Amino acid sequence: MTPEQFVAGLPKAELHMHIEGSIEPDLFLRLARRNGVAVRWQTEDELRAAYRFTDLQDFLDLYYDGCRVLVKAQDFHDVTRDYLRRAHADHVLHAELFLGPQGHTTRGVPLAAVMEGVLGAMADARAEDAVTSGLIVLAQRHRTEEEALAMLDALRPWHGQLLGFGLGGAEVGNPPAKFAEFFRRCRALGFKVVAHAGEEGPAAYVRDSVDVLEVHRIDHGNACIDDPSLVAELAKRRIPLTMCPLSNLKLQVIPAVAAHPLKRLLDAGLCVTVNSDDPSFFGGYVNDNYLACQQALGLSREHLAQLARNSFEAAFIPEAQRDDALARIDDWLARSRPHHPKEHE
Ligand code: ADE
Ligand code: ZN
Repeated sequence: MTPEQFVAGLPKAELHMHIEGSIEPDLFLRLARRNGVAVRWQTEDELRAAYRFTDLQDFLDLYYDGCRVLVKAQDFHDVTRDYLRRAHADHVLHAELFLGPQGHTTRGVPLAAVMEGVLGAMADARAEDAVTSGLIVLAQRHRTEEEALAMLDALRPWHGQLLGFGLGGAEVGNPPAKFAEFFRRCRALGFKVVAHAGEEGPAAYVRDSVDVLEVHRIDHGNACIDDPSLVAELAKRRIPLTMCPLSNLKLQVIPAVAAHPLKRLLDAGLCVTVNSDDPSFFGGYVNDNYLACQQALGLSREHLAQLARNSFEAAFIPEAQRDDALARIDDWLARSRPHHPKEHE
């Protein structure tokens, strides 16, 4: 069995994927036409050629501009359903999706259109493909905490259908402490909380996400490697990192996947997971990210299986679902071993 075949059949959860970052060029152009939205690009090739970024802000400028093609509930449904179909093909059993409603409501899109479109597609994926999913709403960190609190309030009709809240967008200059009250309120309401930290920002942003925001997971977290005492604490407390190697490569956080801290952190005992972040922009879905790590970092099958186990350990799912997924990983590992009797049946 090749590494490609092994990764393809490995049951996994994806925990760091922005719905708005999964619009494939063909859907993007179809939505632009459907909604009469003028865009700078005429063909899929032109769009793909535009996907070269110097840093996170350079990417975010294009990403927020691209969101203009999402107007109606059906648009949010289509992009979410397409991603979940693609995830199912990658043997993703469970996905936790990021959504940034502020990028839509500030353009005049009704919150109800956003939420009904996304939640409807998640229900369809569960019914049609048995892919389970949860929704994590992100506050944009370049905006104020008051705006984040207003969003939390406006989402009240959907609170029962949300998994949690998080923080995304321009990291440097917008430290975690800016959102301390927002996170306190989210936790008090019983939500899971996560934050992007240590992608471009320093290790101190990862530490403050843990100490001040009391997050259940860190999104990215690369910079923690600069602070050995923080690495030890993340390992001891098993606070998961949702890492995104191809994203880091495309946004020039790392010069090459071989320089990614993922394996060093895995070896240090952290609950590291592999994810795609914004797959249509960064040249790969979750399996592409597993394979890029396998090749550049020399990961063994046991490493890959551990990353998949970690994804279910870190997922916000019931114990029974976790146990079932872990058993399926063990089964896949056993079946993929060379000379396993089943190969000769
Ligand atoms: N929003 C979408 N992708 C992001 C990333 N990589 N970092 C921060 N915010 C984001
Ligand atoms: Zn992200």
